[in-house]
Amino acid sequence: MKVAVVGSYGAGLTVKSARQPVAGETLLGTGFSQGPGGKGSNQAVAAARLGAETSFLTAVGADAFGQDALALWQSEGVDASKVVVAADAQTMVALIMVEPSGENRIIVVPGALNLLTPADVRGFRAEIAAADVVVVSMEIPLPPVVEALRVGREVGTTTLLNPAPAAELPDQAWPLIDIVTPNRTEAAILLGKDPDAAIDSEQLAAELARRSGGAVLLTLGGQGALLCEGGVLTPIPAAPVEKVVDTTGAGDAFTGALAVAVAEGMPLAAAAAFAAKAGAHAVTIDEVIPALPTRAQLEGN
Ligand code: RIB
Repeated sequence: MKVAVVGSYGAGLTVKSARQPVAGETLLGTGFSQGPGGKGSNQAVAAARLGAETSFLTAVGADAFGQDALALWQSEGVDASKVVVAADAQTMVALIMVEPSGENRIIVVPGALNLLTPADVRGFRAEIAAADVVVVSMEIPLPPVVEALRVGREVGTTTLLNPAPAAELPDQAWPLIDIVTPNRTEAAILLGKDPDAAIDSEQLAAELARRSGGAVLLTLGGQGALLCEGGVLTPIPAAPVEKVVDTTGAGDAFTGALAVAVAEGMPLAAAAAFAAKAGAHAVTIDEVIPALPTRAQLEGN
């Protein structure tokens, strides 16, 4: 079973504090860590840990953070042979602020990711064609996002869009998506709605399904997820969690696991339940890479 991933790599600089500072305030934090991140890379590592043969396309700088990335993919068995290493750009950096509740806020500086082009994606065509599922996320510019979906559609590989961070998509992207996995905020942005407006989840999922034509899996954090497939809404219960420590890697653990389950041929509702288990595992462990589960860890739960 094979998964191809097109997305970001970045160094994650995580700060923990009792609360977030207000404008003009300096606050003393309670902890700091640095480690590999970026939604695309996290999703690729998640898929590899769950047993998929995984290939990954991103761009990094020729700097120390980029070197860390190459070492990570090698140790995790992710094929990174098509990754672009840009001599004159910095590897993406993500500043991550985590509150005691485990909730996170992230600012990403894309750096080398801005250099990723549709031509780079076309150079990754053989990997997408060989895969059962291609996973695309949106910390990279929109043209390679759309190209990855287009190539997936052309070669008959199932396309899974994790629309994070969300942006309105061009019209031509929608028919290229088989499965889209927004949270509530991302769903509203994709639909051009105010993310703070009180819209119920059923309505968001159904509207998005009409817009996309494919399946929608609306993620609801601790409340599980809502699947809309073929006009039918199915609630996906949350997997139990003892104590939330850090939610940073949860969405990526969910997406990587979903891709693996779909690649294995599971029906979407079962695949979503498997993904919810992976997300629930991830929130109980600090930082991102250590939190991504192996198959044994999920099956032991
Ligand atoms: O989805 C979590 C990831 O988003 C973090 O690893 C951070 O690097 C940002 O890209």
